[in-house]
Amino acid sequence: MVDLNLIKEFTWSRKHLLGLESLEKIEIEHVLELAKSLKEILNRPVKKVPALRGKTIALLFYEPSTRTRISFELAAKRLSADTVNFSVSSSSVVKGESLKDTGLNIEAMNVDIIVVRNSSAGTAHYLSKNVSAGIINAGDGMHEHPTQALLDLFTILEYKKKISNLTVAIVGDIAHSRVARSNIYGLKKMGARVILCGPPTMLLPEFKNLGIEISYDLNRVLECADVLNVLRIQKERINESLFPSMAEYREFFGVTRDRLLKYARPGLLILHPGPVNRGVELSPDVLDKGLIKKNIYSVVLNQVTNGLAVRMAILYLISGVGGKVEAVD
Ligand code: CP
Repeated sequence: MVDLNLIKEFTWSRKHLLGLESLEKIEIEHVLELAKSLKEILNRPVKKVPALRGKTIALLFYEPSTRTRISFELAAKRLSADTVNFSVSSSSVVKGESLKDTGLNIEAMNVDIIVVRNSSAGTAHYLSKNVSAGIINAGDGMHEHPTQALLDLFTILEYKKKISNLTVAIVGDIAHSRVARSNIYGLKKMGARVILCGPPTMLLPEFKNLGIEISYDLNRVLECADVLNVLRIQKERINESLFPSMAEYREFFGVTRDRLLKYARPGLLILHPGPVNRGVELSPDVLDKGLIKKNIYSVVLNQVTNGLAVRMAILYLISGVGGKVEAVD
Protein backbone atom coordinates (compact mmCIF):
# COMPACT_ATOMS: atom_id res chain seq x y z
CA MET A 1 0.00 0.00 0.00
CA VAL A 2 1.21 3.51 -0.79
CA ASP A 3 0.15 5.57 2.21
CA LEU A 4 -0.25 9.08 0.92
CA ASN A 5 -1.02 10.26 4.44
CA LEU A 6 2.66 9.69 5.22
CA ILE A 7 3.62 12.21 2.58
CA LYS A 8 4.57 15.60 3.96
CA GLU A 9 1.74 17.43 5.70
CA PHE A 10 0.26 19.48 2.87
CA THR A 11 -3.18 19.89 1.33
CA TRP A 12 -3.34 20.24 -2.46
CA SER A 13 -6.02 22.79 -3.31
CA ARG A 14 -5.62 23.40 -7.05
CA LYS A 15 -8.30 22.32 -9.47
CA HIS A 16 -6.10 22.79 -12.55
CA LEU A 17 -2.43 22.48 -13.52
CA LEU A 18 -1.87 25.31 -15.99
CA GLY A 19 1.84 26.04 -15.53
CA LEU A 20 4.75 26.16 -13.10
CA GLU A 21 4.86 29.97 -13.03
CA SER A 22 1.88 29.97 -10.66
CA LEU A 23 2.93 26.97 -8.53
CA GLU A 24 4.52 27.42 -5.10
CA LYS A 25 7.73 25.57 -4.20
CA ILE A 26 5.86 23.46 -1.64
CA GLU A 27 3.40 22.35 -4.32
CA ILE A 28 6.23 21.28 -6.64
CA GLU A 29 7.86 19.39 -3.76
CA HIS A 30 4.56 17.67 -3.00
CA VAL A 31 4.15 16.48 -6.61
CA LEU A 32 7.73 15.15 -6.66
CA GLU A 33 7.29 13.36 -3.34
CA LEU A 34 3.98 11.82 -4.41
CA ALA A 35 5.46 10.75 -7.77
CA LYS A 36 8.29 9.00 -5.92
CA SER A 37 5.75 6.94 -3.95
CA LEU A 38 3.66 6.19 -7.03
CA LYS A 39 6.68 5.12 -9.10
CA GLU A 40 6.90 2.03 -6.90
CA ILE A 41 3.55 0.85 -8.33
CA LEU A 42 5.09 0.69 -11.82
CA ASN A 43 7.49 -2.07 -10.72
CA ARG A 44 4.82 -4.33 -9.21
CA PRO A 45 3.62 -7.49 -10.99
CA VAL A 46 0.13 -5.89 -11.09
CA LYS A 47 0.80 -2.28 -12.09
CA LYS A 48 -2.59 -0.93 -11.14
CA VAL A 49 -4.33 0.65 -8.14
CA PRO A 50 -8.00 1.65 -7.82
CA ALA A 51 -7.35 5.26 -6.75
CA LEU A 52 -9.23 6.90 -9.65
CA ARG A 53 -11.82 4.18 -10.27
CA GLY A 54 -14.97 5.83 -11.61
CA LYS A 55 -13.13 8.93 -12.87
CA THR A 56 -13.00 9.78 -16.59
CA ILE A 57 -10.11 11.59 -18.23
CA ALA A 58 -10.26 13.07 -21.74
CA LEU A 59 -7.03 13.52 -23.69
CA LEU A 60 -7.57 16.49 -25.98
CA PHE A 61 -4.48 16.70 -28.21
CA TYR A 62 -4.63 19.27 -31.02
CA GLU A 63 -0.89 18.79 -31.66
CA PRO A 64 1.11 15.58 -32.21
CA SER A 65 2.56 13.83 -29.17
CA THR A 66 4.13 10.49 -28.35
CA ARG A 67 5.47 10.73 -24.79
CA THR A 68 2.97 13.08 -23.16
CA ARG A 69 -0.21 11.57 -24.60
CA ILE A 70 0.76 7.95 -24.05
CA SER A 71 2.08 8.55 -20.54
CA PHE A 72 -1.06 10.47 -19.51
CA GLU A 73 -3.19 7.62 -20.86
CA LEU A 74 -1.06 4.97 -19.15
CA ALA A 75 -0.95 6.99 -15.92
CA ALA A 76 -4.76 7.18 -15.92
CA LYS A 77 -5.04 3.43 -16.57
CA ARG A 78 -2.51 2.61 -13.80
CA LEU A 79 -4.83 4.52 -11.44
CA SER A 80 -7.94 2.71 -12.84
CA ALA A 81 -9.51 5.79 -14.47
CA ASP A 82 -11.36 5.55 -17.78
CA THR A 83 -9.80 7.46 -20.67
CA VAL A 84 -11.15 8.89 -23.88
CA ASN A 85 -8.92 10.10 -26.72
CA PHE A 86 -9.62 12.99 -29.02
CA SER A 87 -7.73 13.59 -32.23
CA VAL A 88 -8.38 16.65 -34.34
CA SER A 89 -8.48 14.89 -37.71
CA SER A 90 -11.33 12.59 -36.68
CA SER A 91 -13.30 15.14 -34.62
CA SER A 92 -15.79 17.90 -35.38
CA VAL A 93 -12.97 20.44 -35.16
CA VAL A 94 -12.51 19.78 -38.90
CA LYS A 95 -16.11 21.03 -39.33
CA GLY A 96 -15.22 24.23 -37.49
CA GLU A 97 -16.19 23.43 -33.88
CA SER A 98 -14.48 25.81 -31.45
CA LEU A 99 -12.24 24.84 -28.53
CA LYS A 100 -14.84 26.09 -26.05
CA ASP A 101 -17.67 24.11 -27.64
CA THR A 102 -15.48 21.02 -27.88
CA GLY A 103 -14.66 21.34 -24.17
CA LEU A 104 -18.30 21.89 -23.19
CA ASN A 105 -19.44 18.87 -25.23
CA ILE A 106 -16.80 16.61 -23.72
CA GLU A 107 -17.73 17.85 -20.28
CA ALA A 108 -21.42 17.17 -20.97
CA MET A 109 -20.41 13.48 -21.04
CA ASN A 110 -19.38 13.83 -17.38
CA VAL A 111 -15.64 13.92 -17.89
CA ASP A 112 -13.72 14.79 -14.68
CA ILE A 113 -10.37 15.93 -16.10
CA ILE A 114 -9.35 17.28 -19.52
CA VAL A 115 -5.68 17.05 -20.51
CA VAL A 116 -5.13 19.52 -23.33
CA ARG A 117 -2.32 20.26 -25.81
CA ASN A 118 -2.72 23.02 -28.36
CA SER A 119 -0.44 25.22 -30.47
CA SER A 120 -1.89 28.40 -28.92
CA ALA A 121 -0.46 29.83 -25.71
CA GLY A 122 -3.22 30.18 -23.11
CA THR A 123 -5.39 27.30 -24.32
CA ALA A 124 -5.43 25.46 -20.98
CA HIS A 125 -6.09 28.69 -19.12
CA TYR A 126 -8.97 29.53 -21.49
CA LEU A 127 -10.56 26.09 -21.07
CA SER A 128 -10.25 26.34 -17.27
CA LYS A 129 -12.38 29.52 -17.40
CA ASN A 130 -15.04 27.94 -19.60
CA VAL A 131 -15.58 24.37 -18.38
CA SER A 132 -15.92 23.00 -14.88
CA ALA A 133 -13.71 19.90 -15.34
CA GLY A 134 -10.14 19.98 -13.99
CA ILE A 135 -7.74 21.11 -16.73
CA ILE A 136 -4.16 19.91 -17.14
CA ASN A 137 -1.88 21.75 -19.56
CA ALA A 138 0.00 19.22 -21.73
CA GLY A 139 1.71 22.01 -23.69
CA ASP A 140 0.29 25.33 -24.93
CA GLY A 141 2.21 26.80 -27.84
CA MET A 142 5.53 28.32 -26.74
CA HIS A 143 4.15 29.06 -23.26
CA GLU A 144 4.38 26.15 -20.76
CA HIS A 145 4.66 22.36 -20.54
CA PRO A 146 4.41 21.90 -16.77
CA THR A 147 4.40 18.09 -16.55
CA GLN A 148 7.58 17.92 -18.68
CA ALA A 149 9.34 20.31 -16.28
CA LEU A 150 8.06 18.34 -13.27
CA LEU A 151 9.42 15.09 -14.71
CA ASP A 152 12.73 16.83 -15.47
CA LEU A 153 12.89 18.02 -11.84
CA PHE A 154 11.98 14.52 -10.65
CA THR A 155 14.79 12.99 -12.75
CA ILE A 156 17.34 15.52 -11.51
CA LEU A 157 16.30 14.80 -7.92
CA GLU A 158 16.46 11.05 -8.49
CA TYR A 159 20.05 11.17 -9.77
CA LYS A 160 21.47 14.16 -7.88
CA LYS A 161 19.46 13.82 -4.63
CA LYS A 162 18.95 17.60 -4.62
CA ILE A 163 18.09 20.50 -6.94
CA SER A 164 19.03 23.47 -4.78
CA ASN A 165 22.45 24.97 -5.66
CA LEU A 166 22.92 22.75 -8.73
CA THR A 167 23.97 24.50 -11.96
CA VAL A 168 21.46 23.53 -14.65
CA ALA A 169 22.14 24.61 -18.24
CA ILE A 170 19.28 24.66 -20.74
CA VAL A 171 20.83 24.43 -24.20
CA GLY A 172 19.46 25.08 -27.67
CA ASP A 173 16.23 26.49 -29.04
CA ILE A 174 15.01 28.17 -25.88
CA ALA A 175 12.99 30.97 -27.49
CA HIS A 176 10.47 28.57 -29.06
CA SER A 177 10.35 26.16 -26.12
CA ARG A 178 7.51 25.71 -23.63
CA VAL A 179 9.73 23.13 -21.92
CA ALA A 180 12.37 25.83 -21.30
CA ARG A 181 9.86 28.25 -19.78
CA SER A 182 8.39 25.67 -17.40
CA ASN A 183 11.89 24.44 -16.48
CA ILE A 184 13.08 27.98 -15.75
CA TYR A 185 10.15 28.61 -13.38
CA GLY A 186 10.52 25.21 -11.68
CA LEU A 187 14.31 25.24 -11.34
CA LYS A 188 14.40 28.78 -9.93
CA LYS A 189 11.71 27.95 -7.37
CA MET A 190 13.70 24.88 -6.32
CA GLY A 191 16.86 26.96 -5.83
CA ALA A 192 18.97 25.95 -8.86
CA ARG A 193 21.38 28.21 -10.73
CA VAL A 194 20.08 28.35 -14.32
CA ILE A 195 22.15 29.13 -17.42
CA LEU A 196 20.55 29.46 -20.86
CA CYS A 197 22.92 28.60 -23.71
CA GLY A 198 22.34 28.85 -27.45
CA PRO A 199 22.58 31.16 -30.45
CA PRO A 200 21.53 34.74 -29.53
CA THR A 201 18.50 34.40 -31.83
CA MET A 202 17.22 31.49 -29.73
CA LEU A 203 17.63 32.89 -26.22
CA LEU A 204 15.20 34.63 -23.89
CA PRO A 205 16.95 37.70 -22.43
CA GLU A 206 13.72 38.74 -20.65
CA PHE A 207 14.35 35.93 -18.15
CA LYS A 208 17.47 37.74 -16.89
CA ASN A 209 15.25 39.49 -14.34
CA LEU A 210 14.53 36.07 -12.81
CA GLY A 211 18.25 35.75 -12.10
CA ILE A 212 18.97 33.60 -15.16
CA GLU A 213 22.42 33.71 -16.75
CA ILE A 214 22.97 33.70 -20.52
CA SER A 215 25.91 32.14 -22.40
CA TYR A 216 26.74 31.62 -26.07
CA ASP A 217 29.63 29.25 -25.34
CA LEU A 218 28.62 25.63 -24.74
CA ASN A 219 32.19 24.54 -23.93
CA ARG A 220 32.45 27.04 -21.06
CA VAL A 221 28.99 26.03 -19.83
CA LEU A 222 30.00 22.36 -19.78
CA GLU A 223 32.89 23.22 -17.47
CA CYS A 224 30.48 24.34 -14.74
CA ALA A 225 27.17 22.51 -15.35
CA ASP A 226 25.85 19.71 -13.12
CA VAL A 227 22.89 19.12 -15.45
CA LEU A 228 22.45 19.80 -19.16
CA ASN A 229 18.88 19.94 -20.47
CA VAL A 230 19.25 19.83 -24.26
CA LEU A 231 16.31 21.13 -26.33
CA ARG A 232 15.11 20.25 -29.79
CA ILE A 233 15.31 22.80 -32.60
CA GLN A 234 11.58 23.31 -33.11
CA LYS A 235 11.44 23.50 -36.88
CA GLU A 236 7.63 23.59 -36.80
CA ARG A 237 7.70 26.92 -34.92
CA ILE A 238 10.54 28.60 -36.84
CA ASN A 239 9.64 30.64 -39.93
CA GLU A 240 12.95 32.45 -40.37
CA SER A 241 16.62 31.54 -40.48
CA LEU A 242 17.92 31.79 -36.91
CA PHE A 243 21.35 30.27 -37.58
CA PRO A 244 23.41 29.90 -40.77
CA SER A 245 23.19 26.12 -41.21
CA MET A 246 22.57 22.88 -39.34
CA ALA A 247 26.29 22.09 -39.68
CA GLU A 248 27.18 25.34 -37.96
CA TYR A 249 24.59 24.76 -35.23
CA ARG A 250 26.07 21.31 -34.61
CA GLU A 251 29.57 22.71 -34.46
CA PHE A 252 28.74 25.29 -31.78
CA PHE A 253 25.82 23.75 -29.86
CA GLY A 254 25.71 20.03 -30.72
CA VAL A 255 26.21 17.82 -27.64
CA THR A 256 28.64 15.15 -28.82
CA ARG A 257 30.66 12.52 -27.00
CA ASP A 258 33.92 14.23 -28.05
CA ARG A 259 32.76 17.57 -26.66
CA LEU A 260 31.64 15.97 -23.40
CA LEU A 261 34.91 14.07 -22.98
CA LYS A 262 36.85 17.30 -23.51
CA TYR A 263 34.82 19.81 -21.51
CA ALA A 264 32.17 18.26 -19.22
CA ARG A 265 32.82 18.10 -15.51
CA PRO A 266 32.43 14.75 -13.73
CA GLY A 267 28.88 13.97 -12.66
CA LEU A 268 27.15 15.76 -15.56
CA LEU A 269 23.58 14.54 -16.08
CA ILE A 270 22.18 14.97 -19.62
CA LEU A 271 18.44 15.39 -20.21
CA HIS A 272 16.38 15.89 -23.37
CA PRO A 273 12.56 16.14 -23.38
CA GLY A 274 12.23 14.41 -26.76
CA PRO A 275 11.60 14.06 -29.59
CA VAL A 276 15.31 14.35 -30.50
CA ASN A 277 16.72 15.58 -33.81
CA ARG A 278 19.36 12.84 -33.87
CA GLY A 279 22.76 14.16 -34.84
CA VAL A 280 21.71 17.80 -34.53
CA GLU A 281 21.37 18.85 -30.87
CA LEU A 282 22.44 15.42 -29.53
CA SER A 283 24.72 12.95 -31.27
CA PRO A 284 23.56 9.30 -31.41
CA ASP A 285 26.53 8.16 -29.30
CA VAL A 286 25.33 10.41 -26.46
CA LEU A 287 21.67 9.56 -26.89
CA ASP A 288 22.09 5.78 -27.06
CA LYS A 289 25.06 5.16 -24.84
CA GLY A 290 23.72 6.24 -21.43
CA LEU A 291 27.04 6.25 -19.57
CA ILE A 292 29.39 8.49 -21.55
CA LYS A 293 32.29 8.11 -19.16
CA LYS A 294 32.58 7.59 -15.44
CA ASN A 295 29.82 9.67 -13.83
CA ILE A 296 28.53 11.33 -17.02
CA TYR A 297 25.10 9.98 -17.92
CA SER A 298 22.41 10.68 -20.48
CA VAL A 299 19.04 9.67 -19.03
CA VAL A 300 16.60 10.49 -21.83
CA LEU A 301 14.57 7.27 -21.56
CA ASN A 302 14.64 7.37 -17.76
CA GLN A 303 12.89 10.74 -18.08
CA VAL A 304 10.12 9.02 -20.06
CA THR A 305 9.69 6.39 -17.32
CA ASN A 306 9.57 9.12 -14.70
CA GLY A 307 6.99 11.01 -16.76
CA LEU A 308 4.54 8.23 -16.06
CA ALA A 309 4.98 8.51 -12.27
CA VAL A 310 4.77 12.31 -12.36
CA ARG A 311 1.59 12.24 -14.47
CA MET A 312 0.04 9.70 -12.10
CA ALA A 313 0.75 12.15 -9.27
CA ILE A 314 -0.78 15.07 -11.17
CA LEU A 315 -3.91 13.12 -12.17
CA TYR A 316 -4.31 11.96 -8.58
CA LEU A 317 -3.99 15.49 -7.16
CA ILE A 318 -6.17 17.21 -9.76
CA SER A 319 -8.89 14.55 -9.31
CA GLY A 320 -9.15 15.66 -5.66
CA VAL A 321 -9.69 12.12 -4.32
CA GLY A 322 -7.06 12.30 -1.54
CA GLY A 323 -6.31 9.51 0.95
CA LYS A 324 -4.57 6.20 0.38
CA VAL A 325 -3.62 4.43 -2.83
CA GLU A 326 -4.26 0.75 -2.25
CA ALA A 327 -2.95 -2.10 -4.37
CA VAL A 328 -5.41 -4.41 -6.11
CA ASP A 329 -4.85 -8.16 -6.21
N1 CP B 1 8.41 15.90 -24.53
C1 CP B 1 7.24 15.85 -25.16
O1 CP B 1 6.34 16.65 -24.91
O2 CP B 1 7.13 14.86 -26.10
P1 CP B 1 5.83 14.63 -27.01
O3 CP B 1 5.69 15.81 -27.90
O4 CP B 1 6.09 13.36 -27.75
O5 CP B 1 4.65 14.50 -26.08
